[in-house]
Amino acid sequence: EKGGYDHFMIKEICEQPKAIRDTLKGRLDLEKKKVVLKEIGLDKEAIERIDRIFITACGTAYHAGLVGKYVIERMVQIPVEVDIASEFRYRDPLITENSLVIVISQSGETADTLAALRMAQKKGARVLAITNVVGSSVAREADDVIYTWAGPEIAVASTKAYVTQLIAIYLLSCYLGQLRGTVSGEQLEEIIEALVRLPGQAEAVLKQQTQIREMARRWAKWEDAFFIGRSLDYAVAMEGQLKLKEISYIHAEAYAAGELKHGTLALIVEGVPVIVLATQKEVYEKTISNLQEVKARGAYITAVAFESDQEIGKLVEETIYIPDTISLVAPVLTVIPLQLLAYYAAVERGSDVDKPRNLAKSVTVE
Ligand code: M6R
Repeated sequence: EKGGYDHFMIKEICEQPKAIRDTLKGRLDLEKKKVVLKEIGLDKEAIERIDRIFITACGTAYHAGLVGKYVIERMVQIPVEVDIASEFRYRDPLITENSLVIVISQSGETADTLAALRMAQKKGARVLAITNVVGSSVAREADDVIYTWAGPEIAVASTKAYVTQLIAIYLLSCYLGQLRGTVSGEQLEEIIEALVRLPGQAEAVLKQQTQIREMARRWAKWEDAFFIGRSLDYAVAMEGQLKLKEISYIHAEAYAAGELKHGTLALIVEGVPVIVLATQKEVYEKTISNLQEVKARGAYITAVAFESDQEIGKLVEETIYIPDTISLVAPVLTVIPLQLLAYYAAVERGSDVDKPRNLAKSVTVE
């Protein structure tokens, strides 16, 4: 059932172009350049009333939520808070009837996420779920559901579910933006075109597997690594470090690049591996100056950047290029090399990739 692959994880990484395509299917009106989410009951009036959005989830789904905050705030102009479900449910958040609470869960069975959903409904909020499992507890209890069509995800480390959660977030943001009038026709067109290109671009990233596998041989020898980035690259850095820790057992940390000099820079000495994500054009120069800071301390730098950015390659030890796209959707492509590096480093280190120690696929107890 692994379809010729060594592990479910690599099979699922390779299924991402299809998962993205399936999640977009039927939800884009390419003629009118609009997003159609028929499954959602939220109408214009209900959307107008929303004055605050909360996103809550665990692990990788939480990292998708971090992307969600940036994207929704930019496109829908409503303040968004993102919280880990096990924190959210116990902190008595200021939810009202005018709040929209978005829960994200691949399995739809995560105990803390489900408890957060119930708490939000009790406080009168409308809950929208993004989930991959039809008929799961989260899907049944939420007021609205957007399914991610990733297909069954077997490996404990989440990959294709994450990218489809991002797709669901883009679709929802466009949809809310359309109804609230906070996104222009031009912006919508740009995003929709970028979304349509993603499956093919994800294929192109996957074609670099041999090169990434080579790089992972070096990564496998590390005991610590740092992931840095700004804006959406920071959100992807969070996911990249989790993937590496979870399956290769290499200690990894993600930092907002601008935060390094507030402490962590003390750990950056000769030869320390730093992965720099540099796809966000609004903060590109700032990211490069952080790259220079770690370079000056002798870090061993791996960059992930757009193909059009050949300059960055001259500054660092190794670069992985992803196809050019708009900043907003870049996370879908940026995460793929990080998944592959974590996977191949784990294989190299002989870990049980699909079932890492101490972890379960579905965390149904808190
Ligand atoms: O099923 P869920 O999306 O609710 O699961 C949430 C986390 O347990 C999950 O994403 C976990 O962090 C993964 N093992 C990460 O790869």
